[in-house]
Amino acid sequence: MSFKFDIGFSKSAAVSGGVAILAKAIDGAVAGAAVADPAGILENAMRIGKFTGKSLALLDIVAPHGSAADRILVLGLGKAGSITAHDWLKAGGAAAAKVRNADSSITIFLDTPGVEVTAKAAADFALGMEMNAYSFDTYKTKKDDDEEKAPKKPVKVTIVTAAAAEAKKLASVTEAVAGGVFLARDLVNLPPNDLGPVEFADKAKELEKLGVDVEILTEKEMKKLGMGALLGVAQGSVRPPRLAIMKWNGGKAKDQPIAFIGKGVVFDSGGISIKPGAGMEDMKGDMGGAAAVTGLLHVLAARKAKVNAIGIIGLVENMPDGNAQRPGDIVTSMSGQTIEIINTDAEGRLVLADALWYCNDRFKPKFMINLATLTGAVMVALGSHHAGLFSNDDDLSEKLLAAGLSTQERLWRLPLGKDYDKMIDSKFADMKNTGGRYGGSITAAQFLKRFVKDTPWAHLDIAGTAMGSPTDEINRSWASGFGVRLLDELVRANYEG
Ligand code: BES
Ligand code: MN
Ligand code: ZN
Repeated sequence: MSFKFDIGFSKSAAVSGGVAILAKAIDGAVAGAAVADPAGILENAMRIGKFTGKSLALLDIVAPHGSAADRILVLGLGKAGSITAHDWLKAGGAAAAKVRNADSSITIFLDTPGVEVTAKAAADFALGMEMNAYSFDTYKTKKDDDEEKAPKKPVKVTIVTAAAAEAKKLASVTEAVAGGVFLARDLVNLPPNDLGPVEFADKAKELEKLGVDVEILTEKEMKKLGMGALLGVAQGSVRPPRLAIMKWNGGKAKDQPIAFIGKGVVFDSGGISIKPGAGMEDMKGDMGGAAAVTGLLHVLAARKAKVNAIGIIGLVENMPDGNAQRPGDIVTSMSGQTIEIINTDAEGRLVLADALWYCNDRFKPKFMINLATLTGAVMVALGSHHAGLFSNDDDLSEKLLAAGLSTQERLWRLPLGKDYDKMIDSKFADMKNTGGRYGGSITAAQFLKRFVKDTPWAHLDIAGTAMGSPTDEINRSWASGFGVRLLDELVRANYEG
């Protein structure tokens, strides 16, 4: 990252030079005006600029000589009384976007008359700023214009609020969340030549620094376990597969763990059923599920969440060499169920089948949630504003949908049922790996369901949300890190303490 903020909180601040950002709600006064604008230039500027305080509206004023600040930014918060956690995130992001190449200190006055600014709100604002600052430019030897102008050392930001002391305490949680989201984004953004299954497993192993237990299974060990579905996908690549098992034990020893499973196809060429060339480079992101699970485990460990959580990621590359799996092959999964391969490009479900079975069998978790960039069909159905949710459990679904609303990593539940399940019956084996043209996301989910027994389970199809989704205030990067904040919120709201 070439650009960073160094954010602190304070109950009060004097402004001398630099940028002052003043929050304002519709129908409310401007926060901090008395301190940052003793010359009283705001009134005029707001009238002439027709600035009312609409959510995310920004008024940018170069202050005249003699003013306390060199530049004053008024930031709209929307209607006082209806500002959500996500609004604070976006407000932070919008402010950050405006001051990304500021080379002087930034003072932000949040305590707007009529608005309840909690410590959580201030911390969310700070998180929004950091999320906006993220960019993936490790591989650029020449910086973009914008980045070139950015100062080399972190820009000092002071958020002024009465809740400063509490906000400071929450900042370690904010750091944890940002760290997990950025880890997930980095993993998805990294090129596939530098992030194969082995390298990804190494990244998972690094979570040991945070106190996560990490085990890595090799090909040989997976063979012994009978993971024929996962191994069939891997066999066309010269790069060997890995299964990473991450354990965060923050709860009581007797607490049943909760489990998250991720699809980690480091590159999906389609295999022998090879994909068309256009856009194939995007398939470096086909490990977005595994990235989200790894990012989540980072967050839980970094904020010392009081929960026992398992993360399992199946890491393979789907390639078409002379040893590659063929359409027509029949493989035996760890569950003992046999699978006829119809299309080698429906590989994610094969990887997950063994990962889910292994997880259930070994850990007997309270529930399993898997994340996967599983089908193009989910993008046809939902675009990039909702991930598909499939589940055998209404209670778990409700909790996930609620976490989706509060983080705005939104989910939309799609159906499962016997009729759909029948579509993957095979003439030759227990099932086939595709179910025909229609309902492609649903038949993929039905396939996974055959590997979870009666354990409460949810499948999130994040093909449309993990990467390439429209950028916004809190994400300017190709990879969004979708799922990290969602699942952290799910855990926080329901499964701790
Ligand atoms: N990784 C793809 C799904 C995907 C597509 C993710 C676009 C992100 C963006 C998956 O492995 C795949 O190829 N699915 C096929 C399934 C089909 C062969 C039944 C698809 O969606 O076309
Ligand atoms: Mn595929
Ligand atoms: Zn895939």
